[in-house]
Amino acid sequence: MRTRSRLDAATVESLLAAAVAAPSIHNTQPWRFRLDPDHQVLEVHSTPERTLPLADPMHRAQYLSVGAAVLNLRLAAVHQGRRPEVRLLPDPRRPGLLATVRLAEPLGADDQWADPGLYEAIARRHTSRKPFTGRPVPEPIVAEMTAAAHAAGARLHVPDIAGTRRLLRLTAAAEARNHAHPDRTAETLSWINAPGANAPYGMPVAALGPPDAAGRMPMRDFTAALPTLRLPALWFERHVQLALLWTGHDRREDWLRAGQALQYVLLTATARGLRTSLLHQVMEWPDLRAATALPQHKRCHPQLLIRFGYGPDGARTPRAPAHSAARPAAPPAADTQTS
Ligand SMILES: Cc1cc2nc3c(=O)[nH]c(=O)nc-3n(C[C@H](O)[C@H](O)[C@H](O)COP(=O)(O)O)c2cc1C
Repeated sequence: MRTRSRLDAATVESLLAAAVAAPSIHNTQPWRFRLDPDHQVLEVHSTPERTLPLADPMHRAQYLSVGAAVLNLRLAAVHQGRRPEVRLLPDPRRPGLLATVRLAEPLGADDQWADPGLYEAIARRHTSRKPFTGRPVPEPIVAEMTAAAHAAGARLHVPDIAGTRRLLRLTAAAEARNHAHPDRTAETLSWINAPGANAPYGMPVAALGPPDAAGRMPMRDFTAALPTLRLPALWFERHVQLALLWTGHDRREDWLRAGQALQYVLLTATARGLRTSLLHQVMEWPDLRAATALPQHKRCHPQLLIRFGYGPDGARTPRAPAHSAARPAAPPAADTQTS
């Protein structure tokens, strides 16, 4: 029996740095971590104060974001020679505790997550909202992305041209509704950081993308309420490469699995030299979300659209320092969020 080595501060810092590099809706970074050093367990909590009441009333996108951070924790644990044992929603009395990651030893030789390319991709992945080149992504890479989603407990559907156009039309309809909804537009704008601001959350103007000159690509218009910030239009790729991430159920644990699958897909794509961006607008209107479900599957719950291809890298977005996302040990009663 091997004695367990305690987690030192540098190891914990590097685990958390990987976790917070995950994508999150509007860069809300809706996570908090708590270390239980005696049991070598990292608790992953949601943050009630960084939610989007209008765009994400059920907290589904928040769970996707936290799931993505959990996937990064898995990869970082393996990078540190630890075997991550993940439990989702481990304690029904603590609804804000979304996952625990026990950092067991030793690492199994066959560990599914022992892929150094994926760990390195964590720091390199950024959302790219710029036009892509339109060069087709080879089928074996698409197959790897699909397998990644499956391995993490979700499914990825890559539609043909007609299916892609349909998803873009539905997204454009959602985008138009968001535009016509002043409170939603204001909610989105509240997560855009003023130029020069040194905010740890939210999105810098530099990370926003231009509108599509051809009007085909319905990227989210983050600055709809402030047209002075809008960038000049550019021509986007004619044949958009999209994937629909979906799950067979739509419970809280499915959203956390979908978030892990999302990040596994994004890192697989990044490791293969692709750029990615996300389209969530259609998921914010129940009827449009339902319209993206695949009719050939009896139970298909759409979670997110992923745009992928070759093109320019995205800009960096800020992160709250990893240690500020780690809260000191607190009794279970402190966990007050209900979701
Ligand atoms: C669940 C979820 C939904 C998102 N929806 C959108 C979206 O609709 N449009 C968009 O441009 N980016 C979207 N993003 C990307 C975030 O804005 C991005 O992850 C965040 O700003 C951090 O930047 P990074 O991905 O470059 O690290 C989404 C991310 C997540 C996790």
